[in-house]
Amino acid sequence: MFANSRSIVSAQTGAHDHLAALVARHLQQPFRKPIGEASRRALETALTCWRRHGDVPLILDAGCGVGESTLRLAQRYPDHFVVGVDQSEKRLAAGKDWWSGPLPDNFVWARADLVDVWRLLAEQAVPVARHYVLYPNPWPKIGHLARRWHGHAVFPALAACGDYLECRSNWQIYIDEFAQALAMTGRPGTVQRWLPEQPMTPFERKYAASGHALWRCVSEGRGETGSGK
Ligand SMILES: C[S@@+](CC[C@H](N)C(=O)[O-])C[C@H]1O[C@@H](n2cnc3c(N)ncnc32)[C@H](O)[C@@H]1O
Repeated sequence: MFANSRSIVSAQTGAHDHLAALVARHLQQPFRKPIGEASRRALETALTCWRRHGDVPLILDAGCGVGESTLRLAQRYPDHFVVGVDQSEKRLAAGKDWWSGPLPDNFVWARADLVDVWRLLAEQAVPVARHYVLYPNPWPKIGHLARRWHGHAVFPALAACGDYLECRSNWQIYIDEFAQALAMTGRPGTVQRWLPEQPMTPFERKYAASGHALWRCVSEGRGETGSGK
């Protein structure tokens, strides 16, 4: 299953020609799509778990898939609370037999649409200390720019989330575009090659085993906040 992941094939050889115009439009025009009630309820439940856990900073694991990165982040940051969000009930509910030992107590998974979650977090000014977007679907076809997170109308809300923000991909162009779009929101990010010592997600493991170069965009320094509750 593992070392056979195909490299990304795209007609794009660099950042998309329409990226800047698209991001500029999303920064100028409010995104009016109504928030889904199911996402609102799922996020509220997750935030209630966070608040009940104690006065600790919040981590968002956006698009957590089966949730491995949520558990690894919870283990790595025991003094934080991690909310892993994915729209796929199937992935979230899948057996966790790949995890050995007890599950950490400082996390929760939420089935919700990130297009709603990022806007709700922004609207409610929920302070997120660390925000991870790990191996989002790359949508490498030229005509699919608007499906990439930085080409989506939700991007201003995504970019506003997290004192620390990190996005990883096995497609360098995705990360270059993400960094360019981030800079347009007034938030600089650094593009780096990423060499994981221990893979944190199934996609990271699969890509690393297949010999793909991995990339990340890291944006930090929005200032230390408390948990802000
Ligand atoms: C390529 S997978 C990566 C999963 C995981 N981060 C990993 O690295 O193994 C992308 C994930 O994003 C989730 N996703 C895509 N669009 C989403 C949305 N609008 N809301 C919530 N999750 C979404 C998918 O269900 C999928 O699990």
